[in-house]
Amino acid sequence: MVSRGLPRDQKSFLESIPRTLGSRLSIQLNLKSNFMSNTEMNTKQGHWILAKMGKKVLRPGGKELTQKLINGLGINTEDTVVEFAPGLGYTAALTLKKSPRSYTGVELNEEAAAILRKKIVGPNKNIIIGNASRSTLQNEYADKVYGEAMLTMNADHRKSEIIKEAHRILKKDGLYGIHELCLMPNEIAKDTKQEIQKELANAIKVNARPLTNNEWSSLLEAEGFTVLEVGNNPMHLLEKKRVLDDEGFFRTLKIVFNIMTHPKARQRIMAMRKVFRKYEEHLGAVMIIAKKNT
Ligand SMILES: C[S@@+](CC[C@H](N)C(=O)[O-])C[C@H]1O[C@@H](n2cnc3c(N)ncnc32)[C@H](O)[C@@H]1O
Repeated sequence: MVSRGLPRDQKSFLESIPRTLGSRLSIQLNLKSNFMSNTEMNTKQGHWILAKMGKKVLRPGGKELTQKLINGLGINTEDTVVEFAPGLGYTAALTLKKSPRSYTGVELNEEAAAILRKKIVGPNKNIIIGNASRSTLQNEYADKVYGEAMLTMNADHRKSEIIKEAHRILKKDGLYGIHELCLMPNEIAKDTKQEIQKELANAIKVNARPLTNNEWSSLLEAEGFTVLEVGNNPMHLLEKKRVLDDEGFFRTLKIVFNIMTHPKARQRIMAMRKVFRKYEEHLGAVMIIAKKNT
């Protein structure tokens, strides 16, 4: 029995996979032969572990909030678009379906950028390897700028630098969209906030510093933006229903199989989910669309 020895909740997830799909599952699997060692993986950031397990949607509010972000930005064929931290390019693909005039991604992680450079090719499509706080793009370059699940992992002063950079490269009235982890409610106690930040950092090995809805809005307003729209979703990144919604049935099977066969990764993912569940009432996802004032 494949699920023997696993925690009960994981067992039930796995047991929900029909056995008849076993052969299809093995065909779906395509792990690279140079998969990183377990020791190396243990020190890796949570989102990269998930990515290595086959997870494509790596933002807290899932596909649904991403779709709201894209709709809110109203990307069209006239737009010069910049994405901060495209990661593995999931949202980039949605943006490119809108045929913008140009697309530029600014990604810090060289491995991710190399993958993006293979995926995103063609005229007026560009991937810059670097920090979004210094995009190297000219002033008033873009009509629309957005970034998902990237401000949260930057320290508060760095968040402001990145937002400032979005402001600098946007044209007047240009739109900036963010999709990040948030804390709830707006009046959350300071010590609860610190406790969550500490446990999150420990579990995902990223110095995650989520803010409340009001704090995110204030940060944007302080850098010269007017908030136009705010949307929230639960933080269900590692919950069964969300994984199925985000990844689809067969990719979910693949992810589950990968997690099952990589014990160190499984341990890390279970630890992340434990923290997400422990603080479920305080953790959420937020999407904000803001307009550059001047
Ligand atoms: C959790 S992943 C999210 C990726 C993608 N936005 C998504 O939602 O699927 C975080 C990504 O942000 C990138 N990142 C973090 N800080 C960055 C910065 N200051 N500039 C550019 N990229 C950054 C990381 O390299 C990583 O690819």
